[in-house]
This record gives sequence, C-alpha cells and structure tokens, in this order.
Amino acid sequence: MSQTLLLLPGDGIGPEVTAQVRRVAAVLTPDLTLDERDFGGISFDRNGAPITEEAIATALKSDAVLMGAVGGPKWAGVPRDKRPEMGLLGLRKAMDVFANLRPALCFDALADASSLKRELVAGLDIMFVRELTGGVYFGQPRFIETLPDGQRRGVDTQVYTTSEIERVSRVAFELARGRRNKVHSLEKSNVMETGLLWREVVTDLHKRDYADVQLEHMLADNAAMQLVRQPTQFDVLLTDNLFGDVLSDEAAQLTGSLGMLPSAALGAAGKPGLYEPIHGSAPDIAGQGVANPLAAILSFEMALRWSLNRPAEADRLFAAVEAALAAGARTRDIGGGLSTAEMGDAVLKAL
Ligand code: IPM
Ligand code: MG
Repeated sequence: MSQTLLLLPGDGIGPEVTAQVRRVAAVLTPDLTLDERDFGGISFDRNGAPITEEAIATALKSDAVLMGAVGGPKWAGVPRDKRPEMGLLGLRKAMDVFANLRPALCFDALADASSLKRELVAGLDIMFVRELTGGVYFGQPRFIETLPDGQRRGVDTQVYTTSEIERVSRVAFELARGRRNKVHSLEKSNVMETGLLWREVVTDLHKRDYADVQLEHMLADNAAMQLVRQPTQFDVLLTDNLFGDVLSDEAAQLTGSLGMLPSAALGAAGKPGLYEPIHGSAPDIAGQGVANPLAAILSFEMALRWSLNRPAEADRLFAAVEAALAAGARTRDIGGGLSTAEMGDAVLKAL
C-alpha cells in the first residue's frame, strides 16, 4: 500500500522550505505519494477560510501531514476565527494530535551560534512533550465582554481532565525510556488548580506504570531559569499547552537557530501525525530564497520515523543533515551565505 504525505506549505517562508522537502522526498522515498493543500492566510485568500473542510478530511486520510508555516502581517486584520493561527489550532484539534514533540538539539557544528556559551549548550539534546489540544488554548468559556461601567473584560479558561494529562504523560515516559530515562514535569502547582491536578496525575501514572523512569516535578518558572542556567540537566520536559509554547521557544534559542528545529504532533497510534518546523512564517525574509530549510527537512525526518515507519530512511536523512553541516553548509541564520535551494543541494549531495 502506497503511503501519502500531505504537504501544507502555508504562508511566508513555508512554501520555500517545503519545496526542499519535496526534493529530498523525491530522492529518499520515491514511492511516497505527495499531496498538497492551501493552509493559513493563503487559504483564507483563496477559499475564505484558513483551512477548508476538504483539506481537513484529506489530512485525516493521509499517513502524515507536513506543514510549512502560517500567518503574517497581511492577515492581522482578519476576524479572529478566520486567522491563519486558528486554522492551525483547528487542524491540531481535528487530527487530535495531543502530544507535541519538540526536540531542542544542539548540532556540534553550530554550538557557537547559541547566545549561551558553548560549554553550556554543547551536546544539548532535550525533548519537550507539550500537551497540544487542551488547556487555555481551547478551554471554555473564552470571550471579551463589556462591563456596565464601560470597562472591557477578557476571559480565558485553563482546564485539564485526568485523561488529557495522563495520555500526554504516557508519551513523555515512553520517550524517556528510549533516551536518558528522565522526565521533568513542569507546572505551577503552587498557584494553579490545573497545576495541582497535573502533578497528582503524573505522580500516580509514574507510580503505576513508569516507576523505572526518573521523575522530577519542577515549577515552570524555575524551569525557565534552569533552561538558561544549565540546560543539559534536562532530558524530557513534560508541559501543558501554554507553558510548552513559551518554554519550547526559549529552548529553541539555546540551540542557536530556530531555523533548525522540527516538531511532531502525535495522536493515537495509527493516526496521522502533524509535522512542522517550529520557526514561523518569517515574513521579513519570505520570498527571498534565504530561509533555512533544515527545520522542514528534519520535520520530514520525524515524519519518516514516527508516522511512516521508515526508520532507516529517517536515519539516512538525519546523517545527511549532519554531514552537510559538518561540511560547512550554512544558510544566513546560522552564519553562512547559502540560499534555501543551495542548502537543499547540500543535503541531497550528502544523501
Ligand atoms: C507554536 C505557535 C502556535 C502556538 C501559534 C502559531 C498558534 O506559536 O506552534 O508554538 O501558539 O501553538
Ligand atoms: Mg509557539
């Protein structure tokens, strides 16, 4: 049975970086069928919605979905429910991809590109497991109202159920077993009810099924500090949706370039995963052909590993990226002058 990868290039630099994934796939996995749909602002322009029902249905039928990026200043004035970002949240929810894996890996060739000293980040290899379909991103009620005295009042709701916490925690513990066997669970149990529940559920699950894994609870603000103090103390970091959003950006910067980092959003076994470079649409450099395609290419690597069940091809692709970097291939964001396509060339050559 032939497998299908759905590409959602999206906005900004999204189309440029996913074009390089196409080139890599043509060489590495010629039997893989690639499909493509509009997503984000471009979909709003063409179809009146940031993602169409048809595109969502196609995503659910695919073996994996790889997106580029969504959003940009052009759509800042669009009604909230039609914004590119809402298309992304809608897709995550529809695919039920509740566990977001965000590796922050410092490639040795790039350790000097970090804003931290080399000795703090050399060898850094941490993995965020961020809950992705719950919490304050989706909690109800949410609204902005006008009060009788004329003030306005905004409300968001942070909410988690036991099963939402447990299923994402399982992913973190399972992953840790294949790594350095350590999980830090981050929350604010000192001030939040959801934080307290989070700590209890993680503790119970650990006792029941994962007592062999080292577990530490850490307050999320302390973790933010520890990430810049001594990031290599971490292996797997388990977080809710909002803390994971914030802290994974911080961790990304430790590695020197946002342009390097992929991510995977996974749901139940056998369901398609959603893969995305964690850099955004970068409107400031869009269309210039200078964006780093490695985050998108490494997102494809994660898709090969986690959804397409092709670990050998994933290993080959990862080694090719490492080899290209070791041979000095650099786009502008990591201190070089290669274009997007030339970085693609470098990976293809190494392959
Ligand atoms: C991310 C992004 C998204 C999020 C935005 C674009 C909706 O920041 O993937 O981290 O907040 O989840
Ligand atoms: Mg974010």
